[in-house]
Amino acid sequence: MPFNKYKIYDSTNLSKDLLNIFIFDYISNINNAKIIISNKKANIDKPYILLEKEVLKLIENDIEIITMDFSIENFQILLLKLLSKVFNEEPFELLYLLEEKRKEVGEFIKNLIVLFEVEDKKSSMSHTQRVAYYAKKFADYLGKSKDEINLIYDVAMLHDIGRIGIEQLMLFSKTRVYDLEEWDLEHTIAGSIFLSNRKELWYAMDVVRSHHEHWDGTGYPDHLKKEEIPYLARFIGIIDWFDWATHTATSEHFGILSPQEAIEYIKFNLNKKFDPEIGKQFANFLKEYLSKEEFI
Ligand SMILES: [Fe+2]
Ligand SMILES: [Fe+2]
Repeated sequence: MPFNKYKIYDSTNLSKDLLNIFIFDYISNINNAKIIISNKKANIDKPYILLEKEVLKLIENDIEIITMDFSIENFQILLLKLLSKVFNEEPFELLYLLEEKRKEVGEFIKNLIVLFEVEDKKSSMSHTQRVAYYAKKFADYLGKSKDEINLIYDVAMLHDIGRIGIEQLMLFSKTRVYDLEEWDLEHTIAGSIFLSNRKELWYAMDVVRSHHEHWDGTGYPDHLKKEEIPYLARFIGIIDWFDWATHTATSEHFGILSPQEAIEYIKFNLNKKFDPEIGKQFANFLKEYLSKEEFI
């Protein structure tokens, strides 16, 4: 397969500032296949992954321009399936190993995140744990499959992973924080770059990157709008906002809101800050949840 050194013009919401993507290796060998992101600004070279239609486009048309469309799928498994289709190899062994490893690495990182966060006295849960808790409940309310719910829970647990690095830097090294500011490298970007180090965690990269984007384009870091924002990033983003508003918001903003006030805020901000569909669903979910279970 003539697969080396294709230049890809990246239109992804994941990596708008990652300007040049090159494939250096032949994809004919699964184990050695390597896709490199090169980001001149942050001076990183990290592996990256292509989605089904991108790989198909490469295979079928031998072309350069790719568009990206993130979905709930586990990208890596998708890619392996595709590669095995192309090269007639059974993916199951590989998939099994990957899934096992994903769980292993995921568990370790999730425990680490909890260790770094402050627990709320009332619920004994930290911000990330509460976001993951509500994400699971909300996904269940929407009738998502068991696999989807598990994936959503895992992604929610990882969504603020970049905060660890930024907060540690704030504590210990002002100069490095200035460096990061110069690069516009805040927790969403730092987190997605960190995850790119472990292929078992690539599935969460787009949510980590885009969970602070707003429906109307006023969010960060890429100022994405509407469906440009990956679905799961919109999904986790609203729960993230809800938890912040009801536990952490300071008087600079509007102070801590009651869950009912937060629901009103969400309704008022449909089509602005929040995806109108997910926002409506989440408001309905919250009403139902609060009528039956305790707010945490
Ligand atoms: Fe965040
Ligand atoms: Fe968060």
